[in-house]
Amino acid sequence: MALLEVERSLGRAPESGSSALDEAGFRRLAEFIWDETGILLTAAKRPMVSARLQRRLRELGCDTLSTYLDRALAPAEDRERQHLIDLLTTNETFFYREPAHFAYLVSEVLPAYRGQRMRVWSAACSSGEEAYTLAMALAEVLGLRGDWSVLGTDISTRMLAQAHQGLYPLERAKHLPRLWLERYCLKGVRGQAGYILIDPRLQKRVSWDQHNLLHPRREGAPFDIVFLRNVLIYFDRAVKQRVIECLYEALRPGGWLFISHVESLQGLRTPLVMQRPSVFRRPPG
Ligand SMILES: C[S@@+](CC[C@H](N)C(=O)[O-])C[C@H]1O[C@@H](n2cnc3c(N)ncnc32)[C@H](O)[C@@H]1O
Repeated sequence: MALLEVERSLGRAPESGSSALDEAGFRRLAEFIWDETGILLTAAKRPMVSARLQRRLRELGCDTLSTYLDRALAPAEDRERQHLIDLLTTNETFFYREPAHFAYLVSEVLPAYRGQRMRVWSAACSSGEEAYTLAMALAEVLGLRGDWSVLGTDISTRMLAQAHQGLYPLERAKHLPRLWLERYCLKGVRGQAGYILIDPRLQKRVSWDQHNLLHPRREGAPFDIVFLRNVLIYFDRAVKQRVIECLYEALRPGGWLFISHVESLQGLRTPLVMQRPSVFRRPPG
């Protein structure tokens, strides 16, 4: 992104209450995050940025954001740059989020795939709850012996490490149907009391990989179903267009794309056909 565009989108930054978050540093940071992730850090996000970065600045003994960025953006600092991305992505998620999608999958979409091979992608999976919920829906309809698998990807390696563990506070599963909880989750005991562990039979059907939505995805494609939920909200129209084009290429003809009910593809050029609000299909053949 050109600096001018970042500046236009930022407007004049309000006082953050943190002198460490210097103006020049914030602009440099916003440009870096936009280039790397497509996420727009507007002036309104400044207090959030300040809250998330202050501890890291202190840990590294940096007085200002600019000093920190001199270090983090240096060519050899790949790990610090990833840490920065991990800190600035918003990873809110839980099991069985937006229940209407899972109900629709189970009753309208999955039955047509019985006896067939099926590949599903949770394309901004955060700590993995969405990918595991998809695996539960697939196990319900296609069976634990069916030829299906789920791929969970995210830009945050910290979130992927959590997803890999498959261990969650019980609280995160409070919306999961009781039957699914009993069938596909093990109750933690002793040191893991208050936690659930995803059943290993389900865990081995789900794989994880770091992937940036700004880039095409060829590994594992084509996918029959893609979930891309609660991430388009962080992007402007140009980035959304690019992300949807990449996803379209990764979808099998006739495949399904689910976005969040709070998101839309309005104003984008795409051959995807809306089936109902937030559910789209790539035209067959
Ligand atoms: C709010 S979470 C959504 C999790 C889940 N899809 C859901 O709906 O509950 C958004 C996720 O998008 C990821 N993300 C943001 N920008 C990304 C990008 N350019 N490529 C891949 N993942 C990205 C973040 O790391 C974060 O985990």
